[in-house]
Amino acid sequence: MVHRIALLPGDGVGPEVVAEARKALDALGLAAEWVELDWGSAYYHRHGRMMPDGAVEVVRAYDAVLMGAVGDPSVPDHVTLWGLLLPIRQQLDLWANVRPGRLLPGIPCPLAGRGPKDVDMLFLRENSEGEYSGVGGRAHQGLHHEVAIETSVFTREGTERVLRLAFDLAEERRGLLTSATKSNASRYGYVLWDEVVEEVAGGFPGVRVERVLVDALAARMVRDPASLDVVVASNLFADILTDLAAALQGGMGMAASANLAPGSDAPGVFEPVHGSAPDIAGQGIANPCGAIWSASLMLEHLGEAEAAATLMAALATVCCKGPRTRDVGGTATTRQVGDAVAAAAGA
Ligand code: NAI
Ligand code: MG
Repeated sequence: MVHRIALLPGDGVGPEVVAEARKALDALGLAAEWVELDWGSAYYHRHGRMMPDGAVEVVRAYDAVLMGAVGDPSVPDHVTLWGLLLPIRQQLDLWANVRPGRLLPGIPCPLAGRGPKDVDMLFLRENSEGEYSGVGGRAHQGLHHEVAIETSVFTREGTERVLRLAFDLAEERRGLLTSATKSNASRYGYVLWDEVVEEVAGGFPGVRVERVLVDALAARMVRDPASLDVVVASNLFADILTDLAAALQGGMGMAASANLAPGSDAPGVFEPVHGSAPDIAGQGIANPCGAIWSASLMLEHLGEAEAAATLMAALATVCCKGPRTRDVGGTATTRQVGDAVAAAAGA
């Protein structure tokens, strides 16, 4: 079976890291057919929009999408995000964003005295609504009494599906689920979320579930990361917590993510957690590990569990023995790391 994969390199370091992910994946010898989509900020400067009409339908025709990142200093960030990433996530209804937060051996951890056995979390981010639903508006623009309203949207159905998946994931792992909200200060959306946690928990007697306020959880991730297994949170909260988790696993360059619509035939979108990193773009020094890890998540999603594990093992070997990029204590270039992973994956 030939996997049809759309490659969306995007901006900044995006093209640099996805090239290495593709190389590593190709080294596995799977039958894959790639098409490259040139959407992003350069496309915006040519066409006045981030991607063409019908872009989501183009993407829908593929089995999966491997993405770099979008964002460029020459285009406002809300334009890039709402012009490309968020419409794809929302229109394909990719409601589950899965992000491993695991420290691989050989990668320095910023927490003194902590190592790989302490940092092995899995985050599930609600990816379709919550604080990023896009509901709101501005009135009296430019006047001194200007007002901006940004409304969070929590639906019972949207909350329930992500919580069910979180319980499933916890059941497959160490059986602990931590649900993060802020239902003391915010009285509606997060309270609904907490109620649905209680309801869904009844169907998973093997999972221990705890409700934690998001600010306390941020402190606990630093103080005692080993006490966490699967963490589920809303769009905004998990967005923030997973950048913290990325730091614990060696930095933005290490973190991977999968945007999924479990139970539907929509293609998953797989991307490193980091952005386009304009500060290091074009220098050939970006860490490709998060992109390669994302490719491994993509293989799992495509039903290639064995190839996914081979790629992950190759990545872990290279992280342990080197070469590594400078953000994780090495001196290697993006390409040197990619070549080493491809060599280990193809061996
Ligand atoms: P960023 O993740 O691009 O960079 C944050 C820091 O991490 C920078 O110091 C950068 O050099 C470093 N970094 C990021 N990726 C790295 C890698 N692979 N290897 C080594 N170091 C790496 O986040 P920032 O600076 O907030 O955003 C830059 C642009 O990216 C903005 O336009 C933003 O909107 C966009 N962005 C896009 C995302 C996406 O497409 N999914 C996600 C986050 C930001
Ligand atoms: Mg983020």
